[in-house]
Formats: sequence, C-alpha cells, structure tokens
Amino acid sequence: MPDRHREVKPKYTSERNIPGAFEGETVTRRRMMGLSVQAAGLATVAAFTLPALGFAIGPLFSREPFDWQPVGPPSDFPTDTYVVKIVTLVQGIGEAGKSIAYMRKRDPAIDTEPEDQYNKFVALSSRCMHLGCPVRYSAPAERFICPCHGGVYDFRGVPTGGPPVRPLDRFYTRLNPATGLVELGPRYSVNSELHRFSPRDPGEPLDGIGQYLYPKRFSTSVLPNS
Ligand code: FES
Repeated sequence: MPDRHREVKPKYTSERNIPGAFEGETVTRRRMMGLSVQAAGLATVAAFTLPALGFAIGPLFSREPFDWQPVGPPSDFPTDTYVVKIVTLVQGIGEAGKSIAYMRKRDPAIDTEPEDQYNKFVALSSRCMHLGCPVRYSAPAERFICPCHGGVYDFRGVPTGGPPVRPLDRFYTRLNPATGLVELGPRYSVNSELHRFSPRDPGEPLDGIGQYLYPKRFSTSVLPNS
C-alpha cells in the first residue's frame, strides 16, 4: 500500500526553494558537479587499468603458433637409447628460443601407452619437472639426471627419485610421408601413467587432484587438424 504520509519531493529544483534554481531544472548544480567528478574519476581509472589488465591477461587467451619441425629420417632414431635433437620452442628469438629434445623410436615392449600417429617416435623435453633445470641423459645408467636438486627419471622419463612432481614433458611426433622425415610438434605434459595433458609448468603435478589444481591454459599450442 502506498504511504500516504510520505512527502513527495517536487520534481523541479525551483519548486524545492533551492537558491539560484533555474526554471525547468531537475538536478541541482551541486549534484551535477558531483556526478561529473565521479564520472571523470571512473574514466581516469579505466584509462589506466583497462590497458594494463588487457596486457596482463590477454596472452592467456592467445594461442601459441607452432610448426612441425623436421628432425631427421627414421633411421636416425634407435629404440634402445636416445639421440639429441635441437628444437625451436619460441620462434623469432634466435638461440634463446631453442632447446633440446631426447628422441628415440617407440619400443612396444616398454612404451605401453596407447599407440597413435603422434607417438611412433618418443621425444622427451629436457626440462626438469621440478623447477625446470635441463636434465641430462646418462646412457650407462639409462636414466635422466637433473643436476640441480638430484631429480632422477627412468628410461621413459618417469621420475624415480628426487623432487620432480611428474614425468618429463613430451612432444608430439609424426612421420611426414611427403618428405620421409620425422617431425616434432607441440609439447604436451603427461601424468605418471603417461596420459596426455596440455602443457603445464614445472612443479605442477598431474596426478589426482593436481590436474584440477593446475588446469590447462588457453595460451597453449593446439594440434592442427592433420
Ligand atoms: S630442477 Fe631438477 S630436481 Fe630441481
């Protein structure tokens, strides 16, 4: 029910006996000034924060481009040890964008994860999954060793000692029928059962709740439709 005792304010400032009011004016000049100052303040804050925000979160939604990189003929790759191949991880920045991949031919006797067109050749990243130091393959021990904090990985890149939280990342590989060369694609991460996940950073586990605590980012490379 409407409140009959409530006083209805006149619409026009002149009817409210406000000194200096103009005829037909509905908002006082004091209030108008206040609203203008607030609007100017908001515009100034937006002018500073929106570009910074865009700069900060924009890269999260961009897709990293990648090229399939030829690394040699299939005969280059044995099944019982690794060969070193140089890969370009970031285009256009010269040597700083390059890294090492440890590669070999898939051996069904030990590579028990499901086979598909992208893992007929195994390519392991040399980046330790503790804090990112470069690991080194020791052929006599058939182990990858990290010199920084003693991380040890077995022949398949699965951690067997030290602080690394997940197996070494991998790269998609394929045999290009047009050139007859093995090619390296984008990096991906794996959990302890070698299931594929989009790339994560070192120190981010992918087993159990870890895969939800460290979800994939939009800024990772995607496989082309090939
Ligand atoms: S960075 Fe490799 S064990 Fe710490």
